Amino acid sequence: MTRVLVTGVRGKTGVPLGRMLVARQRVDVLGGSSDPAKVTIEGVRPTAFSWDDASTWAAATDGVDAVYVVRPDRADAPELIDALLTDLPAETRVVLLSERDADSMGPEGWAARTEQVVRSSGRPWTILRPSWFMQVLTDERFYLGPVVEEGELAFSSGGASLAWIDARDIAAVAEQALLDDGHEGQVYELTGPESLTLPRVADQLSTAAGRRVTHREITIDEALEGLNGFERDLTRWTFERVHAGSFTPVTDTVEHVTGRPARTLEAFLADSAAELRRG
Ligand SMILES: NC(=O)c1ccc[n+]([C@@H]2O[C@H](COP(=O)([O-])OP(=O)(O)OC[C@H]3O[C@@H](n4cnc5c(N)ncnc54)[C@H](OP(=O)(O)O)[C@@H]3O)[C@@H](O)[C@H]2O)c1
Repeated sequence: MTRVLVTGVRGKTGVPLGRMLVARQRVDVLGGSSDPAKVTIEGVRPTAFSWDDASTWAAATDGVDAVYVVRPDRADAPELIDALLTDLPAETRVVLLSERDADSMGPEGWAARTEQVVRSSGRPWTILRPSWFMQVLTDERFYLGPVVEEGELAFSSGGASLAWIDARDIAAVAEQALLDDGHEGQVYELTGPESLTLPRVADQLSTAAGRRVTHREITIDEALEGLNGFERDLTRWTFERVHAGSFTPVTDTVEHVTGRPARTLEAFLADSAAELRRG
């Protein structure tokens, strides 16, 4: 039996990853959450795990063979992940969810430092660097509400295109890296199969939602409204990199690793059409 801890199991990649791991033979899946009572994936064992409470880590990682680490987007992420990995058995596989272009990101290279902690942990590691998740477009906290209610996709792109990726494809790569050989020491740059400008995304949303959605270009400052502290800094870097085209290049890594092509935005939105039409 292989035991795997999935941190962030209620999140965009955690949910599909939990399901995929459960479907494999002889895998014991621990679903890490700061609110384990809300973990409802069949076959996943809800497990208390909080970056805010290091006392939860020992029980959550007890006897694990592999850990999926969803990088917490906070200033102390390098230190927190370092502390978590230090106590893992030397042979534990670690798969880190990082992001595209992590080399150039954040204060004093925050994203690169977070990756470096994993690289130098002495554990077998794999780093995932995905582009923007398609699921952001249907997350009600961000775009689903305004898109459906107002017919408007407000997004600061600077005219650049993004190689959107389905979080299920990230999860499929993570599943392999956690359970199968041959992924140690790899940095996987993950994108969907095409790069789309925001007006084209809005067109595809229109088709899926059954009503006209248009893209409205906003400034980066407008995109930062309501955000403070590190979250604000991180979001600013993210949109600056959007404008610079950092999320534009397409890779074939998903197909290379999983053996099947990454999903298109059109296919993703078709799967979400009922949700989009409900609003
Ligand atoms: N969204 C994108 O387009 C995108 C693109 C590239 C990279 N990324 C990176 O991917 C990572 C995940 O981002 P996301 O937006 O997709 O978030 P997410 O995984 O959908 O949600 C965040 C997760 O963090 C967990 N969490 C919250 N507070 C916690 C705590 N105190 N301790 C432990 N876990 C906690 C939440 O679960 P519980 O509430 O159950 O604890 C939730 O599962 C981030 O590092 C982000 O920068 C995101």
